[in-house]
Amino acid sequence: MRLDAAVAEWRSCRLKLAQRAVRAGEFAVDGRPRLEPKFQLVPGVEPVVELASGRSRVVPPRVHEFWLCHKPAGLICQRHPRAPSVYGLLPGESAAGAVGRLDLDTTGVLLLTTDGGLASLLLHPTSNVWKVYTATLLAEGGSALDADAAERFRAGLVMDDGATRCAPATLEVLGPASCRVRVHEGRFHQVKRMLAAVGGTVSRLHRE
Ligand code: URA
Repeated sequence: MRLDAAVAEWRSCRLKLAQRAVRAGEFAVDGRPRLEPKFQLVPGVEPVVELASGRSRVVPPRVHEFWLCHKPAGLICQRHPRAPSVYGLLPGESAAGAVGRLDLDTTGVLLLTTDGGLASLLLHPTSNVWKVYTATLLAEGGSALDADAAERFRAGLVMDDGATRCAPATLEVLGPASCRVRVHEGRFHQVKRMLAAVGGTVSRLHRE
């Protein structure tokens, strides 16, 4: 937590006033005045001392919520006053947000959390967090996918728009009408679009 936010909470004042107080040298951390409002405190460890009064306060450690849910089909991943949404799976008072989104008809694992830092980390493309999906394909007579599909996934497939190149992914054919896909990106309709580019039409998608 930032020092200015901790001071604002402590004094029940606006952030701007807290920043002014920090810059004026009214607070010390670790034995010396800290003048940078953005100074990062370690919650539960570093006491902030109000120099004028000598009072000190340790920012309480933040307790986060983590909900690992099974998303059924038919729920959206946004908060919505009328449409059925994954937030209906949580207690009403929860402020957790979904880490990424699944399509309305996609089922499977969905993480919801109040820890925005962790959510950003998990979603950031450079974090390379792999997500595993099983897809059921429409297969009318024989295999639904092009013969070189797995190779194109490995090499970094170009989507049907001819412009979007995906990061290397894996495709494992499980049967004539089912496959397992591993990706570490989170583009819009990514798996459905990747499979469409190699001749497959997804009828069911499930995140493992
Ligand atoms: N890829 C998709 O196409 N849909 C999802 O819901 C998730 C990944």
